[in-house]
Amino acid sequence: MSKKIGRNEPCWCGSGKKYKVCHSEFDRKLETLKSQGAVIPSHSIIKNAEQIQGIRESAKINIAVLDYISENIRSGISTEQIDRWVYEQTSARGAIPAPLNYEGFPKSVCTSINEQVCHGIPSEKDILKDGDIVNVDVSTIYKGYFSDSSRMFCLGSVSPEKKKLVEVTKQSLSVGLEQVKPWGLLGDMGQAIHDFARQNGYSVVREIGGHGVGLAFHEDPFVSYVSQRGTGMVMAPGMVFTIEPMLNMGTADVVLDGDNNWTVYTADGKPSAQWEIQVLVTEDGYEILAY
Ligand code: MF3
Ligand code: CO
Repeated sequence: MSKKIGRNEPCWCGSGKKYKVCHSEFDRKLETLKSQGAVIPSHSIIKNAEQIQGIRESAKINIAVLDYISENIRSGISTEQIDRWVYEQTSARGAIPAPLNYEGFPKSVCTSINEQVCHGIPSEKDILKDGDIVNVDVSTIYKGYFSDSSRMFCLGSVSPEKKKLVEVTKQSLSVGLEQVKPWGLLGDMGQAIHDFARQNGYSVVREIGGHGVGLAFHEDPFVSYVSQRGTGMVMAPGMVFTIEPMLNMGTADVVLDGDNNWTVYTADGKPSAQWEIQVLVTEDGYEILAY
């Protein structure tokens, strides 16, 4: 942002276009917002058209893998079976499951049941049973581009209380999406989700949130769902991030599994739900890349 680019020089975004017809207006807008005290994104997290197309292709695979899980998940199977499906379905499309060996994560997908908030590790020992709610969090690397989304599944007859938690969490994504627009603030999105969750009697996990994603698995910014309106990073066209709130039936407090150092649980043992989509900020709103 500080280095001056000549108007006829190639744009920093890598489009190959001249700066004056590419991101010069964009930079002027951001500089103005910055001078007014806003937190602005660095150029490194702004994607150009070619990168967006690459992320779209990756996201298509992520969606297809989750569609396969949706069609096949049922009570009686182990979460290890879900892991095998994710590995096979991802590999069959020439892609790599992003979680596998990510910072030592041992499996291809996260499977989080009931009071598990996120980062559940698939195991032969964990058998899905009637009445469980489970989050399946799939992330894909395709030709170097990253995608990330997750869905909840209700197995057999789930209690009305748990079903409502799953439904409200899904609806909270739409509530957040309404705030996603160019030159809007991430804090507006986070507070909208938090308010909606609280109106429905739920709490929102604070410690874990969403993230930029596309050229790497986890990029700036950290995306909170307990943030304050009027704060947070400016959303600029070309930013790609996840909306993935975790809503709890009881306390917002969470604890980390001391044995595997990955899995996060609710502190009170009550159920938690999460849905995740990957969104692109566009010139006039947003595009959902993965769901
Ligand atoms: N999709 C999850 C996230 O973004 C994946 C976490 S990394 C993993 O938080 F290795 F645990 F999968
Ligand atoms: Co994520």
